[in-house]
Amino acid sequence: MQKWVLITGADRGMGLAFVEHYLSLGNQVIATSRREPFGRSLGELKLKYRDQLIVHLVDLADENSIKQFTDKLTARQIKLDLVINNAGISQLQNIGQWDTGTFIQHFIVNSIAPALVSQAVIPLMSSGSKLVQISSGVASLELNIAADAGLDAYAASKAALNTISRRLATKVAKQNIIVTLINPGWVQTDMGGDEAPMSIEQAVQLMTKSIEKLTQAQSGQFIEADGSLIPW
Ligand SMILES: NC(=O)c1ccc[n+]([C@@H]2O[C@H](COP(=O)([O-])OP(=O)(O)OC[C@H]3O[C@@H](n4cnc5c(N)ncnc54)[C@H](OP(=O)(O)O)[C@@H]3O)[C@@H](O)[C@H]2O)c1
Repeated sequence: MQKWVLITGADRGMGLAFVEHYLSLGNQVIATSRREPFGRSLGELKLKYRDQLIVHLVDLADENSIKQFTDKLTARQIKLDLVINNAGISQLQNIGQWDTGTFIQHFIVNSIAPALVSQAVIPLMSSGSKLVQISSGVASLELNIAADAGLDAYAASKAALNTISRRLATKVAKQNIIVTLINPGWVQTDMGGDEAPMSIEQAVQLMTKSIEKLTQAQSGQFIEADGSLIPW
């Protein structure tokens, strides 16, 4: 059965691969990109899949832009089966260089934007719908991964995303909506860099398999791409 899938940050990296995956299965995909003309590959997918792919221009750092976008979805009364809050930013900045602006920017894009998108799309979801938040292993306080690296604003913003999403999972449990946080792993994107061990295809294949199998029991959980649990 054709499903409605929404993916943010879809013009490159894992977002683009998610879009291609769900289109190839015959689903109706809504993708967001920050600017026009959107990336060449997203443009090619639009040419190939035509009405099966709807692209909206959304700057997730701008609350008005998010609202304009989600108002359009609400007006069309679209019923969403799967939402992947994928867009994110990461800028290396270690102690000695920390500044307010960099922390705020990370929180706006990585924590607040997915919270606002989630808030707007929850009314468009129904029992069994899945809301997937792309988090990061560095958000785990327990694992404290790469603490020497300048990923502090990024890690803190993803930990905030984890907190918001775990709380959201409880809020929507009665509606049977599944909210799950996924760590893709270290992946060869512009963000992950060439030395990352996993290709985009490998990461998205693992994550989409795990997403397919998600149940209510995994709502509010923080999982690896393969579905195994990550300690908070
Ligand atoms: N790569 C890794 O190793 C890794 C590891 C753990 C977690 N993650 C997470 O996985 C997700 C995808 O990452 P990726 O590696 O595919 O990153 P990427 O290649 O850098 O792509 C990031 C995407 O987010 C979009 N984006 C950033 N700021 C935005 C804004 N203000 N408004 C709208 N879109 C915005 C970008 O759009 P533009 O093209 O317009 O900039 C781009 O489409 C992110 O949440 C990231 O934190 C990645």
